[in-house]
Amino acid sequence: MAYIPNTLENKTIVITGGAGFIGSNLAFYFQKHHPGARVIVLDRFRGGEPNSLGHFKNLIGFEGEIISADITHNLNALKKIEFDYLFHLAAISDTTNTNQQLVMQTNHHAFLKLLRIAEKQEARVIYASSAGVYGNTNAPNRVGFDEVPENIYGFSKLHMDKSALSFAQESFMPIVGLRYFNVYGPGEFYKDKSASMILQLGLQALRHKEVKLFEFGEQQRDFVYIEDVIQASVKAMVAAKSGVYNVGYGMGRSYNEIVEILQKELGDFKVNYIKNPYPFFQKHTCADIQATHADLGYAPIYNLEQGIQTYLPVIKKYANPS
Ligand SMILES: NC(=O)c1ccc[n+]([C@@H]2O[C@H](COP(=O)([O-])OP(=O)(O)OC[C@H]3O[C@@H](n4cnc5c(N)ncnc54)[C@H](O)[C@@H]3O)[C@@H](O)[C@H]2O)c1
Repeated sequence: MAYIPNTLENKTIVITGGAGFIGSNLAFYFQKHHPGARVIVLDRFRGGEPNSLGHFKNLIGFEGEIISADITHNLNALKKIEFDYLFHLAAISDTTNTNQQLVMQTNHHAFLKLLRIAEKQEARVIYASSAGVYGNTNAPNRVGFDEVPENIYGFSKLHMDKSALSFAQESFMPIVGLRYFNVYGPGEFYKDKSASMILQLGLQALRHKEVKLFEFGEQQRDFVYIEDVIQASVKAMVAAKSGVYNVGYGMGRSYNEIVEILQKELGDFKVNYIKNPYPFFQKHTCADIQATHADLGYAPIYNLEQGIQTYLPVIKKYANPS
């Protein structure tokens, strides 16, 4: 389903981080629904170290152009392209990465350079922020309130939002930041330990008939299916004004609930509760999506049950590749 009526005929869309989970899904969305658009993926791809998680297999079947470059120091190729929309998703997406210098350089500083390039092109910018900006403050989480990140990842995203809002005051085109909550769905397999708990628990259940949860599985997250994330991201292309918006389903659900749904779908398996090594682990997130609905027309479709049911055939293939 196309989320905006605009055909995007002869428009150029650049997607940084397009070899990653959300970026590759976006690239395929445009390829399918807006074949008249020129789609360019810019990604560093993964190297020997685990800082960038893009994988070529996410782009098998993608017919657009690919630029292999690092946003922290190699934006020359991008400067030579005339583009209309910039989806900026490239980032160190691993929330447990503690290298503050590297996370700030990759997530925050490179973003400032990209904003300046986009401004010259008079291009619209849609970029990925995160629910990580809220840290362990009380849910429901609302933009502009209780933004106290617990890790460098959340801090970098919060400062992307601040920079974007001040930059937007002087720019020609709206800049829209999307605070994705816990995204799950096809395309996340190569994120390994950064993949959603829905994938990780599904794979553990299928492979070992036993799953591991941090004590005692009651922590809640707003899990949002990739299709709904694509909806919000595409609708942000026609936003009337700059802003930062939450993108979740609008409900907190616990890890124990994921297990219950998986057990209903896959049959019984054992749950092993283990100690949580992360002091900054969020206890409860839930997106307030009123403004996202009012300003972007975002209306999520997949609750946790529907999302998991839709995703399970793919998880089964990941567990047993033929
Ligand atoms: N998946 C989620 O649940 C979630 C939640 C909140 C926010 N986000 C944000 O959404 C965006 C996309 O997330 P994702 O889940 O697709 O993660 P991902 O790790 O799969 O994608 C990020 C992509 O950025 C690329 N990249 C990293 N460093 C780069 C660099 N220096 N130069 C060029 N490319 C680089 C990686 O190779 C990867 O392809 C990220 O900004 C992430 O922080 C994701």
